[in-house]
Amino acid sequence: MPKPETVPGPAADARVLGIETSCDETAAAVVRGDGTILSSVVRSQIDEHRAYAGVVPEIAARAHQAHLAPTIRRALSEAGSRLGDLSGIAATGGPGLIGGVMVGTMTAKAMASVCDLPFLAINHLEAHALTARLVAAGTGEALTFPYLLLLVSGGHCQLVAVQGVGRYRRLGTTIDDAVGEAFDKTARILGLGYPGGPAVERLAADATAPERFPLPRPLLGRPGSDFSFSGLKTAVRQIVDRLPPGPIDRPVAADLAGAFQAAVGDILADRTAHALVGFDGRGDVSLVVAGGVAANRMLRSRLAAVASAAGARLIAPPPALCTDNAAMVAWAGLERLALGQADPLSFKPRPRWPLDPAAEPALGSVAGKAGAKA
Ligand code: KG4
Ligand code: ZN
Repeated sequence: MPKPETVPGPAADARVLGIETSCDETAAAVVRGDGTILSSVVRSQIDEHRAYAGVVPEIAARAHQAHLAPTIRRALSEAGSRLGDLSGIAATGGPGLIGGVMVGTMTAKAMASVCDLPFLAINHLEAHALTARLVAAGTGEALTFPYLLLLVSGGHCQLVAVQGVGRYRRLGTTIDDAVGEAFDKTARILGLGYPGGPAVERLAADATAPERFPLPRPLLGRPGSDFSFSGLKTAVRQIVDRLPPGPIDRPVAADLAGAFQAAVGDILADRTAHALVGFDGRGDVSLVVAGGVAANRMLRSRLAAVASAAGARLIAPPPALCTDNAAMVAWAGLERLALGQADPLSFKPRPRWPLDPAAEPALGSVAGKAGAKA
């Protein structure tokens, strides 16, 4: 049996400052090559966007501009690091909201230029994809390539063969909504506000009879590993439209949230099981789940069952490393530095930046849509 790929990891004492500004979190972190997160500061913009029940790009960009410098200062001070201790400066270069990405990359470029350090423009999706290796390095274990990644975030839902740093093959993607988008829209339909995913999860915990709402499971059992969520969200909307006008009774909303979450769980489990069947893990097969939706406990337990049925192990980073943060950006920077990579200061932000450039864009997919969450 061919051996898993053993790429040398980052130098243990290298330190990279990571900056994340692609959506509604202003974040900075300092991470060491041995997987130690020296600091990870996340300033959420929930309060700025709440009134609009979603992220307003212009407000996001201005908030990043106002808060990035103090966030970086705090990350450096909590890490006990000075600029002179750093080996590089990494910032999310896309995909995401262009205004925020510009704020983050311009700040990183200016710092890198003044301090004469390598600048690394990080693909936000790659940062999510490599987080499990950060976690593994931090516990002294190695997670070798290849592994199967289920990336579930506000703008994406993909199954990806992670073959190495910068080497991704997409096995499946959503043909309509992203899974986090489905959570957020369902939350809005149920009157739960923003951010939607955690609110749906909390409400679903109180469900007593979710089966009274039979919801569709699009593409379930079909060949391949593509996803579809828009019919599911529409079905929730149609049920709510038939309810008496006014706020939804809490037990009804809880059962609907539970029914929605169970349907998402079935879809993710089925599609991931399909991808695992044909996946060549070269020995031990690891299934990694990443992205904001990976913080959901019910989904994590469903995926653990899928992995174990396929003889694979599930690696799910702690929830704080699943939702957007800068430690994952710093780590992706460390991985790329270890391979001798860096980016020129002429790098242009990439609002669309697929992990697998060879993959066809999925019909109707939001993935890569300008303005979509990453
Ligand atoms: O990765 P992320 O923080 O930002 C993007 O890059 O998109 O993911 C955000 C998404 C949002 O749609 C949010 O509602 C969802 O992740 N999310 C969750 C949970 N926590 C965050 N969805 C379900 N359950 C959760 N606990
Ligand atoms: Zn993200």
